[in-house]
Amino acid sequence: MELLSIVLVLSIFPTGLGHGLVNEASEGFNETCKDAVGDVTCYGAIGDGETDDSEAFLKAWKALCEVEAASDIPMLIVPMEKIFLLKPVTFEGPCKSDSVQVQVLGTILAPNSTEGWTNCYANTWLGFWNVSNLIVNGSGEINGSGSIWWKNFSVQALHFYNCSNLQHSGLTHLDSPRNHISIKFCDNATLSYLNISAPESSPNTDGVDISSSTNVSIHDSYIGTGDDCIAVNDKTTGINITRIVCGPGHGISVGSLGANRASATVEEVYVKNCSFNGTLNGARIKTWQGGSGYARNIFFEQITLVDVKNPIIIDQFYCNGKHNCKNETSSVQVSNVTYIGIEGTCVGLDAITFNCDEIMCTNITMKHINITSSDPEKSVVASCENAKGNSECTIPKVPCLTIDECDNQK
Ligand SMILES: *[C@@H]1O[C@H](CO)[C@@H](O)[C@H](O)[C@H]1NC(C)=O
Ligand SMILES: *[C@@H]1O[C@H](CO)[C@@H](O)[C@H](O)[C@H]1NC(C)=O
Ligand SMILES: *[C@@H]1O[C@H](CO)[C@@H](O)[C@H](O)[C@H]1NC(C)=O
Ligand SMILES: *[C@@H]1O[C@H](CO)[C@@H](O)[C@H](O)[C@H]1NC(C)=O
Ligand SMILES: *[C@@H]1O[C@H](CO)[C@@H](O)[C@H](O)[C@H]1NC(C)=O
Ligand SMILES: *[C@@H]1O[C@H](CO)[C@@H](O)[C@H](O)[C@H]1NC(C)=O
Ligand SMILES: *[C@@H]1O[C@H](CO)[C@@H](O)[C@H](O)[C@H]1NC(C)=O
Ligand SMILES: *[C@@H]1O[C@H](CO)[C@@H](O)[C@H](O)[C@H]1NC(C)=O
Ligand SMILES: *[C@@H]1O[C@H](CO)[C@@H](O)[C@H](O)[C@H]1NC(C)=O
Ligand SMILES: *[C@@H]1O[C@H](CO)[C@@H](O)[C@H](O)[C@H]1NC(C)=O
Ligand SMILES: *[C@@H]1O[C@H](CO)[C@@H](O)[C@H](O)[C@H]1NC(C)=O
Ligand SMILES: *[C@@H]1O[C@H](CO)[C@@H](O)[C@H](O)[C@H]1NC(C)=O
Repeated sequence: MELLSIVLVLSIFPTGLGHGLVNEASEGFNETCKDAVGDVTCYGAIGDGETDDSEAFLKAWKALCEVEAASDIPMLIVPMEKIFLLKPVTFEGPCKSDSVQVQVLGTILAPNSTEGWTNCYANTWLGFWNVSNLIVNGSGEINGSGSIWWKNFSVQALHFYNCSNLQHSGLTHLDSPRNHISIKFCDNATLSYLNISAPESSPNTDGVDISSSTNVSIHDSYIGTGDDCIAVNDKTTGINITRIVCGPGHGISVGSLGANRASATVEEVYVKNCSFNGTLNGARIKTWQGGSGYARNIFFEQITLVDVKNPIIIDQFYCNGKHNCKNETSSVQVSNVTYIGIEGTCVGLDAITFNCDEIMCTNITMKHINITSSDPEKSVVASCENAKGNSECTIPKVPCLTIDECDNQK
């Protein structure tokens, strides 16, 4: 058995130069795996959609993480056309190799009963902790079997915690119990070519949540869930969100910030070339009363709207469901927010809503905006409370901003 597992570890490292040998016996070993490059089935994973493959995945991860590769990136494969049932698992780093890759080609499925979810570390189903230069990609699927949880919504599906230079691309994420992907304490992460979906009616199923992170890029993805497509939360800076097709859902949000009198800081957020189709909100900034800190230097550019209820909204009186919110004397300060090139249709009346408190939302810049009603018989309005700034070529007109001459040159 010991010999066999040595063969396995070597096979995980393509050039066969790995030093990190795992002494654990690999129960599910089968001869054909000798040629495979770190296939999870070589560590005993079955992939029939019914057997619990969690232990096998952990064993495979451990082997991957122990390989000391100098130039090649050791890789673990979750093979095509198989369904791996996993209970909550934590994939822990740091790994010995500079970078490790997990290629997901098949399906990873969550248990369909709440029993399978007991002992969740940090309310997470699949967590990658403390791994740098991690690559998780492939054309596979992560199915959170969320429906049993939508009354409970306590477990997030995929969590990247304390990472640098993460690359996550290509996967389909379905029906998470709560948010589909969360990124926390990460620097320089790229998420791309993802397909994230859950029913419109599913509660709290955000697509991607980002917090306490810097330099995150999310691009070229389709996100349609029951909550925010992307939420940019506290302690974030340098977030690029590009070419995202969002809907159904609650739009792309900065916040909510400042809940429970927290101090929050968000800056340098660029949302560009995105579209919203049938969403509750489009470009949204939401803060609670009583918080402090700031949300500033936020840009929404070249946005297309199709039947969006609240296309542009800043809400400094955010309060959800169960809270009994009061108006306070402090809040997260919103400033330097720029909207350029936003066009399309609104299903409600309120195309643009700036609902700020006495602290004021300052330096709001709007240019080349044309939002019309989805119903050709109707018109839309902009409402504005305690906001200052400039607008140019903006339809509907925003009453509290200074209106510059429209040059009509885009
Ligand atoms: C052995 O592993 C290969 C590659 O993962 C897999 O296709 C095959 O079904 C396995 N065979 C048995 C008998 O488990
Ligand atoms: C839940 O999964 C188990 C085994 O994974 C399966 O036997 C059962 O039929 C499934 N139940 C439902 C309701 O899908
Ligand atoms: C991640 O690293 C931190 C800091 O080194 C440590 O406290 C924590 O236990 C690690 N988490 C996991 C799940 O390994
Ligand atoms: C995964 O990422 C690696 C490194 O960026 C790349 O070489 C590989 O082609 C990608 N594979 C898939 C299936 O996307
Ligand atoms: C997720 O997996 C469950 C159980 O296999 C299946 O019933 C469901 O259709 C899958 N969801 C999607 C969206 O494929
Ligand atoms: C950011 O991560 C990418 C891999 O996605 C890497 O190529 C690049 O060098 C990193 N940038 C910095 C500044 O570390
Ligand atoms: C975000 O976009 C800016 C401007 O295009 C670029 O300089 C920066 O490197 C990007 N950041 C990330 C994390 O991709
Ligand atoms: C918007 O979504 C609806 C319903 O899913 C779809 O029929 C329509 O083609 C989409 N429109 C655009 C412009 O993407
Ligand atoms: C707080 O103030 C806003 C704006 O003046 C007002 O619309 C809202 O009703 C107030 N909320 C409470 C709970 O007093
Ligand atoms: C607003 O943006 C301008 C130009 O980028 C910058 O000089 C100013 O410091 C910003 N204000 C805040 C409050 O960040
Ligand atoms: C307002 O924001 C715009 C866009 O970021 C910036 O160019 C300008 O310098 C800012 N003005 C002030 C007074 O901060
Ligand atoms: C605004 O959009 C409507 C609907 O597409 C269009 O009819 C109208 O000409 C546009 N107005 C301007 C000033 O571009």
